[in-house]
Amino acid sequence: MTDELPAPETVFPEDHRRAPAGVLVIFGASGDLTARKLGPAVENLARHKRLPSQFAVVGVARSPMSDEDFRTRMTGGQSVFPELNDGFRYVSGGYDDPETYRRLRELLDTLDAERGTAGNRAFYLATPPEAFPHVVNGLKDAGLNEPRPGAFSRIMIEKPYGHDLESARELDGTVHNAFDESQVFRIDHYLGKDTVQNLLALRFANAIFEPIWNRTWVDHVQITVAETLGVGTRGSFYETAGATRDILQNHVLQVLALALMEPPSSFDAENVRNEKVKLLQAIRLPTNRDISRIAVRGQYTRGGTEQDLMPGYRDEKGVNPLSRTETFAALRLDVDNWRWAGVPFYIRTGKRLPKRVTEVVLQFQRPPHLPIPVGQAKDLAPDALILRIQPDEGITLRFGAKVPGHDFRVRSATMEFSYGGAFREESPEAYERLLLDALKGDPTLFIRSDEVEQCWRIVDPILQTWAEDRNPVPLYEAASWGPAEADRLLERDGRTWHNS
Ligand code: BG6
Repeated sequence: MTDELPAPETVFPEDHRRAPAGVLVIFGASGDLTARKLGPAVENLARHKRLPSQFAVVGVARSPMSDEDFRTRMTGGQSVFPELNDGFRYVSGGYDDPETYRRLRELLDTLDAERGTAGNRAFYLATPPEAFPHVVNGLKDAGLNEPRPGAFSRIMIEKPYGHDLESARELDGTVHNAFDESQVFRIDHYLGKDTVQNLLALRFANAIFEPIWNRTWVDHVQITVAETLGVGTRGSFYETAGATRDILQNHVLQVLALALMEPPSSFDAENVRNEKVKLLQAIRLPTNRDISRIAVRGQYTRGGTEQDLMPGYRDEKGVNPLSRTETFAALRLDVDNWRWAGVPFYIRTGKRLPKRVTEVVLQFQRPPHLPIPVGQAKDLAPDALILRIQPDEGITLRFGAKVPGHDFRVRSATMEFSYGGAFREESPEAYERLLLDALKGDPTLFIRSDEVEQCWRIVDPILQTWAEDRNPVPLYEAASWGPAEADRLLERDGRTWHNS
């Protein structure tokens, strides 16, 4: 007998996780997302044998580029999947030019004939958001929105999906004028992360957590998405977004919905998304008066150390020197339902914080009675379950343990679970997972139209109040945990942030 683990493939045969014949069409093919995320995702899918040889990738963008250049851009020049080598094609043209779509249509027909791509098309919108309506209308006018008999035509749309509730509804109007909701796959790449999906496994594939996952046992919940990076080269985009639109409205609220929703009866796409929407609907809308109490924004200034001095946000390239854009946002939310009534949820995100970490912390109630003198438990923090989404993916349970020795003293200790230590299987990258799901037609990890609306409904009043507020935006030094106001948000409730 050996206790060596069998090879991962034999543990989880995943042959059904293979894309059908088809063409992935990427609009915005010369952009940053294509080079950084979509290219490596396609490459990984091919390397993991998840793409058939009847597959092609077509790039569309304004910049001129040869098929060969596009292939190099997608694969970094490596030839890891020879059977796809001449399946990379490029169409150069304006997004509002009908000629672009006429040529694209012709190319897709040629690929169907040459490579057997079977009329299946997945259009990926990785362009700046201003181009989304042009692309959707262009596809419609060329008839590319209509699936061929027995084939599919799907559209994948990157964030930002709208700028506020009204513009999101307007975009949805344009999209639904061309595509049925069942053809639409709105991306939030956080949903593609294995550890975000592990929230579902932890909660619903175990019996021991669910009984304590409610107001009776949970004191409060914190969700943090902290980044050490600044805005880098994306200054001018970020000026139109800010931390709330860039991360809080989508990534943070999606993680929150999965962490707090009711158990779905199955992991079927509609069941999971119905439960998420119900949870989002139960989030109390802040009134104008509440906003100054429950919402904090901040902007980073110069900071760091002498060796590693980081510029302030207003000194970044593409940023207005008088900018009022927030690079940090924190909120207290309340969920008005039976499970969570009275439990505060503190969420925050920021750039140039001291540590890159995404985590969900459930802090539990103190024991109702401590049978030892308080002095013997002075290093005892409340019990907590910390779900580390990234990096160092895993779960920590913090609990009280007896300190070895003659005295009966109790101190906090931890039990650690690490993904890397427990499993040999590799986690797919978020974009790899999402591309494959969309090609296979599984919408579970994509945002439904009503979810987008609910998320904007929550942040819109806050963004409006901030836009009208002429007080100075609170500042924080780069490499600190945000403005002092964010600490006060919790201190007022007798709590503190869990700063990993
Ligand atoms: C993107 C934001 O959606 O997510 C970026 O636009 C942010 O500003 C990024 O840096 C963070 O993603 P990840 O996967 O690195 O946590």
